[in-house]
Amino acid sequence: MNEFFTRAQSEGAAAIIQNRSRYQPTVGLILGSGLSSLGDAIQYPDIIPYREIPHWPVSTVHGHSGRLLLGNLEGQQVLVMQGRAHFYEGYSMSHLTLPVRVMNILGIKTLLVTNAAGGINAGFQVGDLMLIRDQLNFPGMAGHNPLRGPNDDSAGPRFPDMSEPYDGALRAMAHQVARTAGFTLQEGVYACVAGPNYESPAELRFLRLAGADAVGMSTAPEVLVARHAGMRVLGISTITNMVNLDPLNAAGVSHEEVLAVGSSVIPRLVRLIHGVLSQL
Ligand code: HPA
Repeated sequence: MNEFFTRAQSEGAAAIIQNRSRYQPTVGLILGSGLSSLGDAIQYPDIIPYREIPHWPVSTVHGHSGRLLLGNLEGQQVLVMQGRAHFYEGYSMSHLTLPVRVMNILGIKTLLVTNAAGGINAGFQVGDLMLIRDQLNFPGMAGHNPLRGPNDDSAGPRFPDMSEPYDGALRAMAHQVARTAGFTLQEGVYACVAGPNYESPAELRFLRLAGADAVGMSTAPEVLVARHAGMRVLGISTITNMVNLDPLNAAGVSHEEVLAVGSSVIPRLVRLIHGVLSQL
């Protein structure tokens, strides 16, 4: 498998999507573990299974359905990814983020990205929604960066600025939507790790010291590619478990737990996403 995917490959995937859909989306949505049902609200969707799109990375993980939905949501034409692939499944970072490059080619200007995350901040609770203010991209800092390799100058610069990975105005809009709907949102720093193992207590204490409020195995690479192309990004973590920083307390995390909590936050996440879309 190639490490680096080219502009031509992204254009090939974009052409298939354009051929198979009536819509011209300007907003992209990536739905993480246990959150796929968020796509059910789309009216008259055009549905494309990932395996029918050339080069599209397909997830093998339970809880991630693999299809693309295009349609109308709250007055916006949207492209929704129901499920995403992960680095730990064996994809290169460039392959993993091909969908975001395709979104850019399709004319998408705003990316809403969701994930399941473990809560590190002691003020968080299972079931909280956290707006991502900033990210620590550990795989990226260690060399697994989706922007490594030949730069596509037509997409963005060789050395992209990352001083505001997550858009402040979109975050303010999300807080406002939540306030109106009667719930509050946490806000914090998302640490991306490669996985697939959940973290050891020592790793978690390290992440906390580094300033992380939540930890997960996705999102940061997608956001780098979106920002490289100048897209605005809103990131939302669902806190599916509180992590265990104490080696003397052997409480662990399971994937089932992560999926179950996903379903309990869906009503709030739906209201949040609908509210933000209606104000774009
Ligand atoms: N760690 C890493 N990824 C996760 C977690 C976690 O505790 N919960 C959900 N995704």
